[in-house]
Amino acid sequence: MKRNMTGLVLALVMASSTAFALQFDGTNKAGEGVVKSKHNMNLYTNTTHDAQGRVCAFCHTPHHALPGGGSVATYMPLWSHTLPQMTFVPYNTFTVTDLNLSNELQGPSILCMSCHDGSIAVDQHYGNDLATTKLTSDAFNPTEDTNVSGTAVGLPTGGKTDLSNDHPIGFLYSDAYNSRKTDLFPESTVFKGGGTKKISDVLTNGYMTCATCHDVHNKDNKENSVDTTVNYFLYGDQKDSAFCITCHNK
Ligand code: HEC
Ligand code: HEC
Ligand code: HEC
Ligand code: HEC
Repeated sequence: MKRNMTGLVLALVMASSTAFALQFDGTNKAGEGVVKSKHNMNLYTNTTHDAQGRVCAFCHTPHHALPGGGSVATYMPLWSHTLPQMTFVPYNTFTVTDLNLSNELQGPSILCMSCHDGSIAVDQHYGNDLATTKLTSDAFNPTEDTNVSGTAVGLPTGGKTDLSNDHPIGFLYSDAYNSRKTDLFPESTVFKGGGTKKISDVLTNGYMTCATCHDVHNKDNKENSVDTTVNYFLYGDQKDSAFCITCHNK
């Protein structure tokens, strides 16, 4: 009897958790490390926590890591989170036609998509495949998905395989710089707004990726000095758009 009840409660929790926004129960202060950040999947009240309390495990595993796949997922740093298999629509405007964006999610970007496009549960990882809590919606397109109360929820970037409305990635920074020397700053530039990393430090084999702007481990990113309650894992302060002006000579 007890076992049946537990099973029923578990089934109800799993069915409902997919519909709710993630409930974060931590601090998420910039620079305080991954364990205290929104990238610790054990710090949500409505995720399935790791049975051993591990944090890295949601993304990495020391053994039996997932193999890479296709032309995009070639960089798999001991990865333990299922990757999406869809083809994404890249950013496309007249002005970036000289940049090859056909492989936009190469490098670490496809790894971010294993949670941020909303197709795979954030609490899924090697050894925890019952997890179900997915990211829903896009902060800039909040009408796309709502929770049970009708409130707009969650993130993703690249939800519904659409990256056409997101900052371009997946090209060589040097290609862009060489064709727009008066508009961009060189790779040796240190992130403005208190940053410590140079642009070249956060390119992957010279390519611009999600990890060029965001520090997934919440280590070298800087606080927003105007609104200290947000932490977008950015390498520079957004006050006076110092972060953007690191690269863009505007
Ligand atoms: C939310 C997912 C996530 C979590 C949690 C996470 N990582 Fe990572 N890790 C990544 C991603 C994505 C990359 C590739 C990013 C890059 O190259 O900048 C990476 C890269 C790495 C690398 C190789 C590149 C580097 O930055 O040195 C190491 C080592 C690493 N992680 C260790 C850890 C350890 C140890 C933990 C736990 C304390 C951890 N990570 C937690 C996502 C994560
Ligand atoms: C294991 C799943 C997972 C992976 C992999 C992952 N993230 Fe996240 N990320 C999350 C969750 C969960 C949140 C919190 C969402 C929320 O607040 O609703 C988050 C939040 C964020 C935020 C916003 C923080 C805020 O305050 O809202 C940024 C920026 C971010 N992630 C960037 C990245 C980047 C870049 C990568 C890849 C280098 C990445 N993430 C990989 C799960 C992941
Ligand atoms: C050129 C820098 C840059 C790149 C590249 C970039 N981001 Fe962001 N991202 C930002 C900034 C800046 C913010 C803070 C929101 C704002 O200023 O409007 C942000 C916010 C976010 C957020 C949280 C809020 C939201 O609006 O959804 C997530 C999640 C996120 N980024 C994920 C990603 C992922 C995944 C990638 C790669 C596909 C990526 N970012 C690539 C600069 C970048
Ligand atoms: C790490 C360097 C870097 C950072 C930080 C960065 N960008 Fe970019 N951005 C680029 C590069 C390189 C391109 C592609 C070449 C170009 O269009 O100048 C680009 C492209 C763009 C474009 C597209 C232009 C077009 O032709 O369609 C816009 C708009 C833009 N960035 C705005 C921003 C804003 C706003 C921020 C801050 C939130 C930001 N960028 C942060 C490097 C960066």
